[in-house]
Amino acid sequence: MSMLIKNGTIVTADSHYKADILVQDEKIVKLGQGLEAPSDTEVIDASGKYVFPGFIDPHVHIYLPFMGTKAKDTHETGSKAAVAGGTTTFIEMLVPSKQDDLLKSYELWTGKAAGSSVADYTFHMGVPYFKEDTEGQLSEIIKEGITSFKVFLAYKDFFGVNDTDLYKTLVFAKKKGIITTAHCENETLIAELQARLLAAGKTGPAFHEPSRPDWVEAEGVHHFTSFLETTWAEGYIVHLSSELALQAALRAKARGVRVSIETLIQYLVLDASYAERPQFEGAKYVMSPPLRVKSNQKALWSALSRGLIDTVATDHAPFDFSGQKDLGKEDFTKIPNGIPAIEDRVNLLYTYGVKTGKLSLNRIVELMSTNPAKLFGLFPRKGALSPGSDADVVIYDPEYRGVISSATHHMNVDYSAFEGMKIEGRPSLVTVRGKVVVRDGKVTGTPGWGQLIRREPRS
Ligand code: URP
Ligand code: ZN
Ligand code: ZN
Repeated sequence: MSMLIKNGTIVTADSHYKADILVQDEKIVKLGQGLEAPSDTEVIDASGKYVFPGFIDPHVHIYLPFMGTKAKDTHETGSKAAVAGGTTTFIEMLVPSKQDDLLKSYELWTGKAAGSSVADYTFHMGVPYFKEDTEGQLSEIIKEGITSFKVFLAYKDFFGVNDTDLYKTLVFAKKKGIITTAHCENETLIAELQARLLAAGKTGPAFHEPSRPDWVEAEGVHHFTSFLETTWAEGYIVHLSSELALQAALRAKARGVRVSIETLIQYLVLDASYAERPQFEGAKYVMSPPLRVKSNQKALWSALSRGLIDTVATDHAPFDFSGQKDLGKEDFTKIPNGIPAIEDRVNLLYTYGVKTGKLSLNRIVELMSTNPAKLFGLFPRKGALSPGSDADVVIYDPEYRGVISSATHHMNVDYSAFEGMKIEGRPSLVTVRGKVVVRDGKVTGTPGWGQLIRREPRS
């Protein structure tokens, strides 16, 4: 199976040039100008298009039992949505709750994904506790190629890890060369604020944000980075939403703490006012940390352009408006948290970042492909367009004009948080390991083509 992608503009994290790409079997074998097609080669004309390395979403939920229900996507629907939006690899949160066995959870999540995904994938391994057999169990999971952990400082009695177990997890992670990703919010303060608001009769979706304000997030960031500082472990703050939390993270970085920062596309294009929409529509916009008042967006965009934030992810977590979000009709603390976005991230960051002049093309490749690949042990197999890299390629049409709608998206969820937003570009052709999975903007990939990508611990 070989393919020649001709006449496109190659865009990587650090360069931008016209060249052809020759793909053989699953790999890129050559880049150069005027490459000849060997016999039996499919030639794809990418004139007028950008050619990006496949995008990587470093934070998604597909199988997610949470808040009394389950996220709606299967690995088939979630991965079709991913590739339609140019994401060729995703990293799913494999998140046991406090009463679950880690090895059994590993079997459960990997079993759900096996044979179903169009895109490649891997997992961050959730650590909700650290018991006597945890080291042994995690060592087995690391041997399977899962080389990053996930801890929650929030969701007290469900996913949340206590401080002693967080400390033990980080000491172990440091010993094994594992990076630990963390949801940073102070769970005790959230519980107190939720109780205070509900007691005052403040039960609607708009009160979700005041129950988890920016200082509660900043406290979580300071808390996590203090544990990193004490254990010398390496960390990654997921879904950073606010200027105050950003300051806490940057202070830690300035002290020499080894920590990277992820923000989400939702925080860049949506704000707290969406959760105030009437007729309970605000529930569509409930996620944690919450969408913030608009002034935070400026700080996040500016940090992205100055290289202070490392990745842009989605935290994709799809719950239907009808039948799931409405579990919290009388009480905002029962609204399943999450805003689906796996399909929309690349088009939104391109449209509202590049087209508005806030970010360069190279920077969006860095934020959504090369940095996630480097941080999570996928580089240079992923996140690059180089000989020897997997042929994960996004041919992107900057002339496309469209509007986001749940009527046309592939995500298995009954609404879009970005309904009606304009996009000024989209992937026209996408390959995963050399196989075309999107052609002319239509998903053509086969479930099961996507593989679990096994990674090595960092040295
Ligand atoms: O609201 C969110 N973020 N839902 C998914 C679970 C999590 O906290 O990442
Ligand atoms: Zn989270
Ligand atoms: Zn998440």
